[in-house]
Amino acid sequence: MVKKELSKVFWVVAATMLAAATVGYTQQVPCYFIFGDSVFDSGNNNNLQTKAKVNFLPYGIDFAKGPTGRFTNGRTITDFIGELSGFQDFIPPFAGASPERAHIGMNYASGAGGLREETSEHLGGRISLSNQILNHKKAIKKVNVPVHRLGQCLYAISIGSNDYINNYFMSKPYNTSRRFKPNHYAHSLILLYHIHLKTLHHLGARKVALFSISKIGCTPKMIRSHGGGKGCAREVNTAVAIFNKNLEDLVKDFNKNVHGAKFTYVDIFSGGDPLAFKVLGFKVRHKACCTLSPGEELCAPNKPVCANRSEYVFWDDIHSSEATNMMMARSSFDGPLGSPYSIASLLKQ
Ligand SMILES: *[C@@H]1O[C@H](CO)[C@@H](O)[C@H](O)[C@H]1NC(C)=O
Ligand SMILES: *[C@@H]1O[C@H](CO)[C@@H](O)[C@H](O)[C@H]1NC(C)=O
Repeated sequence: MVKKELSKVFWVVAATMLAAATVGYTQQVPCYFIFGDSVFDSGNNNNLQTKAKVNFLPYGIDFAKGPTGRFTNGRTITDFIGELSGFQDFIPPFAGASPERAHIGMNYASGAGGLREETSEHLGGRISLSNQILNHKKAIKKVNVPVHRLGQCLYAISIGSNDYINNYFMSKPYNTSRRFKPNHYAHSLILLYHIHLKTLHHLGARKVALFSISKIGCTPKMIRSHGGGKGCAREVNTAVAIFNKNLEDLVKDFNKNVHGAKFTYVDIFSGGDPLAFKVLGFKVRHKACCTLSPGEELCAPNKPVCANRSEYVFWDDIHSSEATNMMMARSSFDGPLGSPYSIASLLKQ
C-alpha cells in the first residue's frame, strides 16, 4: 500500500475518535439531494420488479425503522453525511415522498443503477443516473423550488460500480469487455457522466460531491469471481482506478470551466484495502456478516447474522456494513478524502 493511502487510513482513525465533537451541528444547507446506486439507495427499488431489492430482514436490523430498502444493516454513507450536516430527518426516497419534500431534499438512488442504460438489466428494474436526474427535474419543477435555493443544496452522487460489476466484469450477457479496453471503457463512462452532470448543473446544482467507486475488487463477491478466491481482484481494482482518476479530472474540469461549480471528488477507493481495515480494527474483512442466499450476493431473508456486526467490513457479499459506512462518511465529511473540498467545507462555500 502506498504512503498516501496509509496516511488516509490513519486520518480515518483520528476522525473516528474525534467524531463525537462534530456531531450536533445545526443544519448547514437548506436541502440535500442524493443520486446513485445501492451504496446510497434508501428504498427506491422496493416497488420495482427486480432482484436488486432488500426490504426484508436482516437488512435494516440496526436501523431504527427496520428494513427500508437500504442495502446494509443500518445507516448508509449518505445517512451519516446528512446527520453530520445537521439534518434532523433522513432524506426520503423519491418513491413515495410527498412532492413538497423537493424543497428539502430527496434520494433518487437505485440499487443496480448505472451510467450505462443496459447495466444490470439481467437483474430487472432499476433507475439509471440519467433517469434519476429526470426524476429530480420533475420533482423540483412540480413544486417550483427556487433556483437560488437549489444552488445552496448539497448533492451527493455515487455511481459507476454497477457499470463494472454488473456489466464490464460480467461477460454474459454483456459484451462491453470485448468491445472496450479498460481505459476506453472508463473514458466512455466519464463521457456519459459529464453529460449528466451538465444537466444537473443546468438544473441549479452547484455543491456536488462525487464519490469514487470503492475498491470493489476487494469485495467477497469479486474476490471469489475474479480474485481466484484469495486476494483482491487486481484486474477489477485496476480498471476502477482508471475510472476514478478520470472522475477526479472531470471534477477539476468543472471547477475550472463551469459557472459557479463547486464540485468535489471523494476518494473512498484508496483506504479500501483489507490491510487498511485491519488497521481500523475490523476483525473480519473477507466474509459477509449475514447468511447469503445460495449462489447470490445478497442476504437470505430471516437467516442468522454474525454476532458482532461492527467487527465486519462487509454486511453481505458486496455491500459494506454500517460500521464501514460510518468511517467512510466521517472521513469524507471533515477528513482527507474530499478534493478540493471536504464535504464540511463544501457546505460553507
Ligand atoms: C454487443 O451487444 C449489443 C446488445 O447488447 C449488440 O447490439 C452488439 O451488436 C454486440 N456487439 C458485439 C461486438 O458483439
Ligand atoms: C463488538 O466489536 C467492537 C469492535 O471490535 C467492540 O468494540 C465491541 O465491544 C464488541 N461488542 C461486543 C458485544 O462484543
